[in-house]
Amino acid sequence: MQNKITSLDFHTLYDGVQFRRLQTPRLFVTMKLFFVEILFACLLAASLGQSVVKPIGRVHMKRSHCVNNNYYKGPNCENIDKQLTEIKQEIRALRSGDNNDNSSCQICSSPWQLVYHHDANGNAVAGWKYALISAVLSGSRVRVRVGDSYCAEADNVHVYAGHVFAQLLWHVSKNGWNRFQRDAYWWWTMVSTDGIMQMTRYNVGSNTHRGTNSKKTSITWYVQVSSLPATPSYSHKADGSRTQGNLNDLERSVKEGKEIRCVSAKSYSFPIQNVAINSQLKFISGQNVDHISSSLVNNSIQFQSNAYWWFTMVTSDGLRDMSRWTVGIHQSRGHSKDKVAIEWFTDGCWEEVFSHDANGRELSGSRKLLTSAVLSGHRVRFQIPTWRYYTAEADNLSIRNGHVTAQALKHVSKKSLAEFQNDAYWYWLMVSTTGSVRATRYNVGEHKHRSNSLNKVEVKWFIDTRPWKKVLANDKSGNVLSGNQSILVQAVKAGADVRCVQGDEITGYAYKAQNLAVSPDGKHVSAQALSHVSMTAAPNPNEVMIQPNAYWWFTIVATTGFRDVSRWSVGAHVSRGHTNDKVGHEWFVNY
Ligand SMILES: *[C@@H]1O[C@H](CO)[C@@H](O)[C@H](O)[C@H]1NC(C)=O
Ligand SMILES: *[C@@H]1O[C@H](CO)[C@@H](O)[C@H](O)[C@H]1NC(C)=O
Ligand SMILES: *[C@@H]1O[C@H](CO)[C@@H](O)[C@H](O)[C@H]1NC(C)=O
Ligand SMILES: *[C@@H]1O[C@H](CO)[C@@H](O)[C@H](O)[C@H]1NC(C)=O
Repeated sequence: MQNKITSLDFHTLYDGVQFRRLQTPRLFVTMKLFFVEILFACLLAASLGQSVVKPIGRVHMKRSHCVNNNYYKGPNCENIDKQLTEIKQEIRALRSGDNNDNSSCQICSSPWQLVYHHDANGNAVAGWKYALISAVLSGSRVRVRVGDSYCAEADNVHVYAGHVFAQLLWHVSKNGWNRFQRDAYWWWTMVSTDGIMQMTRYNVGSNTHRGTNSKKTSITWYVQVSSLPATPSYSHKADGSRTQGNLNDLERSVKEGKEIRCVSAKSYSFPIQNVAINSQLKFISGQNVDHISSSLVNNSIQFQSNAYWWFTMVTSDGLRDMSRWTVGIHQSRGHSKDKVAIEWFTDGCWEEVFSHDANGRELSGSRKLLTSAVLSGHRVRFQIPTWRYYTAEADNLSIRNGHVTAQALKHVSKKSLAEFQNDAYWYWLMVSTTGSVRATRYNVGEHKHRSNSLNKVEVKWFIDTRPWKKVLANDKSGNVLSGNQSILVQAVKAGADVRCVQGDEITGYAYKAQNLAVSPDGKHVSAQALSHVSMTAAPNPNEVMIQPNAYWWFTIVATTGFRDVSRWSVGAHVSRGHTNDKVGHEWFVNY
C-alpha cells in the first residue's frame, strides 16, 4: 500500500477545519466529499429524533458505488448553505479533470481527520462538533488527543445531549512519560466535548479504588471514515425488524473478514471485538468487552462509583445480552437482556492474504504475504470458518520461523451466540498459522484458571489495506536507523494510529500502541501496550502459547530504546516483577 500523504503539512480550507495536503487531487476530492457528507449528516444529527429529513443536494457522480449523495438537511442549518455551495463548486472544479480511474474510491487511504478541537471550556477552536457527532453516529473510529502530548483511540463513544463522551480505558498508571508506577492501577478516563475529563483509578487486579477526579482540558478529536456514504450495511429496530440494508451483505462482510462496528439506539458507538454467524437462524452475533459502567450525572456521562465491567453481546435480531462484573474481583453485578436498535457498519478496508487447513497447509494466498504484512505494520484479523466464522483482531502478533501466532484477548465466555455464560471467564486465544488454536480460560476478576484446550482448525487471515508508513526505526540505544523521530512526534500529535514492530521473519512481533505520549522535551515518543498475557514457547517451535500461572505483561517502549515492563498476575493484585531493558523498534503510522 502506498502512502498518499506527502507530508504533515496542514492547510486550512474553510471554517477553521484543517485538511492534510494530499498528493492526488482525486483523493482530495474524496476527503472533500467526506466533509460535505459530514456537513449534511451532522444536520441530521442535529435533528436527532426527527424521522423526516429532506434531501437537498445532488452532486452528479459517475461512480455511484463510491459515493452517492444522500445529503440531508435538518432545521437551523441555513447558516451553512453558503459554505456548502462553495464546497460544491470546489468539488466540481476539482472533478473537471476527472478521468475513468478508480481513485476517488480510495477511501482506505483517507487519513485520520481532525474534525473538532475545543478548549478546556468546551468552546470550539477548530472544526465542528456536529461533524464529530455525525462521524461517531456513522460508526467511525475516533482518536483523541488530550492537551498537546497524549493520544489514544476511544474504546467506546456516547453521544448525549449534544455532547460526545468517549472512554479511554487502555492506560496503566505512569510515573513520567515512559515508566510505570510501582504499585500499578488502571487509569480510566472519560473525555467529552464539554471540556471535562473524568479520571477514575482502580488497582490492577483488585477492587481497591484509588480515586476519581475531573479536570477541564482541551481536546482534539480525529475520526477515520470507512465508507462513503457512511451508511450501515444493515440496520434494524429493537424488535429486530429491518430498517436499512441487507442482512446478506452484512453476512458477506463478516465472512470476508471485514471489521464491524455498531451504533446502538443512535447514540452509542462501539467496535465488535469478536463476531460470528449463526447460519441456521441467520443472525450475526458480536461481542464488546471494553466498557466500564457509566451513568448520567447532571446531564453528562460519568463513570459510576463502585465501577463494573459492562460486557455486551448483540445480535442482528436486536437482542442484547449484558454481563456485569465488579472491576478487580469475581463478583457478578447482574446478567440481563434487552432489545436494542442497531446499525451495523462495515469497514471494507480489509483483504484476505492467507488461508490454510488444520495442518497449516496453504489453501490460498501465502504465509509470506502475511508475515511481511505483519512486519510492515498492518493490522491482522483471523477467522475460523468451522467455528461459525468466528473472527477477531489480533492484539499481539508473534512471528516464529515464518509462522504467525495471533494472541486475541477480547472475549468473555459465551453460552451461545446470543448469551454470555453466567459464571463468566476470559477466553483467550492463541491462533497459529500451523493450524493450532489454543484457548486459555481464567475467571473474570480472579486468578482462577479454568482450563486450556488445543484444536487443529482451518484459519483465514486478513490484513487491513490502509497505508502504514514506517517513519522511524531505532536501535536499542535510541540511535536512528532510518526515518526521523520528529516525523513520528508530529504524526502522534496529528492523531495517527501507531503500531510497533520488533524483529524479523525468524523471531518478531507487532502490536498497537494503546496510548502514546510525547516526551517533555518534545523529541521522543513512548507507546504503552497492555493487551498482552505472558507467553512461552510451545512444543512446536513455530508456535507460542500462554504461560501457565499467567500474568499481564504491560510495556512502555520509547524511541530512546528504553523499555519498562510491569508484570501482574492475571486477576490478582500480585506483582510479578517490574524491570526495564533496552530494545530497538520500528514505528509505523497510519495517519
Ligand atoms: C473500483 O473499485 C471498486 C471497489 O474497490 C471495484 O469494485 C471496482 O471494480 C473498481 N472499478 C474499476 C473500474 O476499477
Ligand atoms: C449537579 O449540579 C448541581 C448544580 O450545578 C450541583 O450543585 C451538584 O453538586 C451537581 N451534582 C454532581 C453530582 O456533580
Ligand atoms: C508480543 O509478543 C512478543 C512475543 O512474541 C513479546 O515479546 C512482546 O513483548 C509482545 N508485545 C508487547 C507489547 O509486549
Ligand atoms: C526530520 O524531519 C524534520 C521535519 O520533517 C526536519 O526538519 C529534520 O531536518 C529531519 N531530521 C533529520 C535528521 O533528517
